[in-house]
Amino acid sequence: MAKKILLLHGPNLNLLGTREPNIYGSNTLQDINSHLEKLAEQFDVHLSIYQENSESRIIEHIHEAHSSKVNFIIINAAAFTHTSIAIRDALSSVCIPFIEVHLSNIYKRENFRHVSYLSDIALGMVSGLGPNGYEAALRYAIDY
Ligand code: DQA
Repeated sequence: MAKKILLLHGPNLNLLGTREPNIYGSNTLQDINSHLEKLAEQFDVHLSIYQENSESRIIEHIHEAHSSKVNFIIINAAAFTHTSIAIRDALSSVCIPFIEVHLSNIYKRENFRHVSYLSDIALGMVSGLGPNGYEAALRYAIDY
């Protein structure tokens, strides 16, 4: 059976391409997702992708990942990274290995972005490599 990988994009990432391009670059979310979908197809893995602006929907996708036997999660929780104990608890509850991704280098930015509620329970974290960070995470998940 093909490996199942879930990619979750958090709030405001639907605006990529026009949102602060000096920080987040000019690629749209669709550009990023299409590239990753092609890579997943090449390696014969099943990749599901969702973007949600609400915390509850992200949590529900994490719960569903457990019931649908997802093998690996890649998550850019965006601003919820710095605030959400609920997303952290959801990830801890389902026991699915995950990688945290950020397009920007959160440690080069405002102090409030230096705190992540996810990093210490993640397998790893990629921050500051732009869309390449998602690709690195996906390649890792495929080999995992
Ligand atoms: C982000 C960094 C977060 O601090 C921010 O709130 C985002 C995007 C990133 O991908 O660089 O929305 O997760």
